[in-house]
Amino acid sequence: MTTSPFHGGGALAEHYDAVRQHSVALIKPLSAEDCAAQSMPDASPAKWHLAHTTWFFETFVLAEFEPNFTPFRPEFRVLFNSYYHGIGERHPRPQRGLLTRPGLGEVLEYRSNVDHRMRALLNSGVASGSWNPLVVLGLQHEQQHQELLLTDIKHLLSCNPLWPAYQDEAARPAGIPSPKGWNTFDGGLIEIGHYGTGFSFDNELPRHRVYLQPYELASSLVNNGEFAKFTLEGGYDDSSYWLSEGWDWRTQNNVNHPLYWQRCDGGWDEFTLGGRRTLDPASPAVHLSYYEADAYARWAGARLPTEAEWEYAAATHTEGSHEGQWFGSAWQWTQSSYAPYPGFRVAAGAVGEYNGKFMVNQYVLRGSSVVTPPSHARLSYRNFFPATARWQFSGVRLARDSG
Ligand SMILES: [Fe+2]
Repeated sequence: MTTSPFHGGGALAEHYDAVRQHSVALIKPLSAEDCAAQSMPDASPAKWHLAHTTWFFETFVLAEFEPNFTPFRPEFRVLFNSYYHGIGERHPRPQRGLLTRPGLGEVLEYRSNVDHRMRALLNSGVASGSWNPLVVLGLQHEQQHQELLLTDIKHLLSCNPLWPAYQDEAARPAGIPSPKGWNTFDGGLIEIGHYGTGFSFDNELPRHRVYLQPYELASSLVNNGEFAKFTLEGGYDDSSYWLSEGWDWRTQNNVNHPLYWQRCDGGWDEFTLGGRRTLDPASPAVHLSYYEADAYARWAGARLPTEAEWEYAAATHTEGSHEGQWFGSAWQWTQSSYAPYPGFRVAAGAVGEYNGKFMVNQYVLRGSSVVTPPSHARLSYRNFFPATARWQFSGVRLARDSG
């Protein structure tokens, strides 16, 4: 992790309060029952997200740096440990929905208790503490979980035949009508990776050189209208568009359309955080697996971009404007395997388990989605999921070779 952007005064303490309060605000539209349920092993209950993000501060900051540290409840160290072997035992991920105790009220008390102690630590020397980078990491971690809380709640509510809304006015990715244009890049020797003094995760480092062949990237994301055409014209039924593993996956799981699409009078509805709605043809197609994204690209006579192609293009095109759906619409699958950059180094201690150990069997997604906290998006950000993952707001920007 690079240095903190908070150099002094109470800026970090204020940021801490804002991020922590936002997590609690996210559950305001939910009942205690909504917060406790787990719809699948990949997703976690909202209550677990609230507790685990608190556990992160208690374990990595307070336990190390608070004078006379006493845990809020010692058993939470296991209950809300996600995947840190260096910390010890972990409660099994698929069983998070069985944790009816502690109740939501006690989890909120846990948050208040840790916040109170964190504030005391922050006020004791905001700029100088050696725990400062860990606090910043904890806040970035919490923002990641804010997005997961929403995608997990969307999946949970989609399993209910009443199709309840999380929030009637919940945002959907903004649409851009077809047709799209293409932006051309000469390629050559370019640089990618994080630079400057702001925060980045370790997986965005080090900045390094990459050679690109000439290429073109679509000026906008594939939208629902375009993806509906793929569906209507048999894209899901023709193995020639699909990777072998992808074809097996779609056959075994009987996948014939994007997750959350539902047939309605010859057209399509989609389940959104605002409930069931008519599919908006201009909105980006989202909740696609890597396999679906790749099959669509082949059908369209194109391919998925590499992450270097994406980052170089986004750096060029976001300098003067925010057009082009680079950020805030949908995560964009790249054909790049999630692997360490040349020279990548894992941080010492349990916190080194944050990213590095997941660098196998996953693909990188770039940009950010409609449910990513805006201050969390970055040009060099590397999100990653297995090829089968569909419950994130994941979409497609097409690429093709040029020249
Ligand atoms: Fe986490």
